[in-house]
Amino acid sequence: MPTPHISSNIEDIAKTVLMPGDPLRAKFIAETFLKDVKLVNQVRNMLAYTGTYKGKKVTVMGSGMGMPSIGIYSYELFKFYDVENIIRIGSCGAYDKDLKLFDVLLVSQAFSESSFAKTMGISNRHVLSASKTLNNRIKRAAIKLNKPLKEGIIHSSDVFYRLDHQAYVDIYKKHHTIAVEMESFALFANAKALNRKAACLLTVSDSLVNHEETTSEQREKAFTNMMEIALNSI
Ligand code: HPA
Repeated sequence: MPTPHISSNIEDIAKTVLMPGDPLRAKFIAETFLKDVKLVNQVRNMLAYTGTYKGKKVTVMGSGMGMPSIGIYSYELFKFYDVENIIRIGSCGAYDKDLKLFDVLLVSQAFSESSFAKTMGISNRHVLSASKTLNNRIKRAAIKLNKPLKEGIIHSSDVFYRLDHQAYVDIYKKHHTIAVEMESFALFANAKALNRKAACLLTVSDSLVNHEETTSEQREKAFTNMMEIALNSI
């Protein structure tokens, strides 16, 4: 049952979808961790793969960058492909000086200035929560794997290249957001609109306070911690 942006058959999409921003990271996860892998979407190169992890069926699909992009893909997966759970696995910039590069964060809530939830007609609130059920599963998986996990509120921003640096500091102080990314708020809004579950794991890829950055090669390796936590939570 194809949609404007996904050409898969409904039976080719699992009930749980992991969503990295980058479709090539979806390919990496499928090739590194999954068995019996099938490529199930190529529309706009937003690659999706379905396979099994420890015997459980799972789909990994890119979301693209930003709330409009993840907003389209997550809505179509929840609404037209009967997906129950979406776990975003992405990168973030640290606002808190105690966060180190490659720390893995579990998002409890996303704050955003975005009008996504209001425009969609589900909420005038600027803070939306992740699914507690999914977050508990993720926390249990991290403990079992002995991988450290920090939890906190993050900022879903519409702008990557923000000109006013002080704006970051003000948001951090006012909303207690420990890091910034660009997708969770829209994902959580769609889950709320369609009564589905969404969660988000993030790896710190840069810091807006310590001005550290990672190379793409470092990122590829370090992001495997987050991927394994997400896969083992299924
Ligand atoms: N800003 C927004 N999104 C991000 C960042 C950032 O600095 N780093 C990773 N995702």
